[in-house]
Amino acid sequence: MKRAPHPSDSLLDLIGGTPLVPLHFAEEGVTVLGKAEFLNPSGSVKDRLAKAVILAGEASGELRPDSVIVECTSGNTGISLAMVGAARGYRVRTVMSTTASGERRSLLRRLGAELFLFEGGVSYQAGIELTREMAAADSRVYLPRQFENRLNAEEHEEGTGQEIIAQSGGELHAFVSGYGTGGTLAGVGRALKARWPGLRVVAMEPSGELMPGELPCCHRIEGVAQDYEPPILGMAPIDQRVRVAGGQAMAMARRMHREFGLLVGTSSGANVVAALEVARELGPGARVVTILCDRADRYFSTALFGD
Ligand SMILES: Cc1ncc(COP(=O)(O)O)c(C=O)c1O
Repeated sequence: MKRAPHPSDSLLDLIGGTPLVPLHFAEEGVTVLGKAEFLNPSGSVKDRLAKAVILAGEASGELRPDSVIVECTSGNTGISLAMVGAARGYRVRTVMSTTASGERRSLLRRLGAELFLFEGGVSYQAGIELTREMAAADSRVYLPRQFENRLNAEEHEEGTGQEIIAQSGGELHAFVSGYGTGGTLAGVGRALKARWPGLRVVAMEPSGELMPGELPCCHRIEGVAQDYEPPILGMAPIDQRVRVAGGQAMAMARRMHREFGLLVGTSSGANVVAALEVARELGPGARVVTILCDRADRYFSTALFGD
């Protein structure tokens, strides 16, 4: 899409085009390819969605200079919208659970976003309802609707998925990803399956179970849906589901910090645990790709750094 030049273009140009990093697990005898989405400018895969929905809103005329962008988010989408919103001059309000890490809230406030918190433990559905009520009460509200907006998946199909194909160096056998909205899983899954029809698309899901000796706080994998099947997930060609415990996810994220020097967050650890399992199932020579969703510094106050 051709768009008029804007001072924020240099920031928007930093979004996407992330490297595909080979992770050699010598002990397990497996190599997993990780798409380094934590290198996006605000630190997560969600920068792609924020750029897409804001540019689409401007192009359609729905997003106007006095608009307030309102979204229900586990934090990362809010930070991405707030970053792009700051650079393009929009007000952003994020509706999020009180359980989202303090780092997310601090970043949101610094980027000038308003925070609307709802009680933790309540499903995303409650937050989504709140955003709809806000839109009904104020005509300035612009809803990106990340959980149902097809653009979310399309952006990953045309962007992230095509980048992975170009970077893969040959056939891939499986794609593994957790889902919050399902945009990444659906979009990348569709792109890779279209290229390699035999490729297995695997949904990583949190098991919710505690590892021996773990505190109840540790079952959570932030950003990944535990009790909510988002509408966009229906677009994902899922062949298999693999469940990962929060403790396993954190142990793997810490291993990624220490053994690979990759400062990723908990959901990246969970994705890699599931990717290793799938690679072992597929056998020697299997080429499995997964997503490294966000950065470790978003989790300093959480159990990830409590060891
Ligand atoms: C840390 C983290 N991991 C994974 C995801 C899942 O991404 P998607 O919404 O594309 O399913 C999110 C989404 O919010 C996230 O914040």
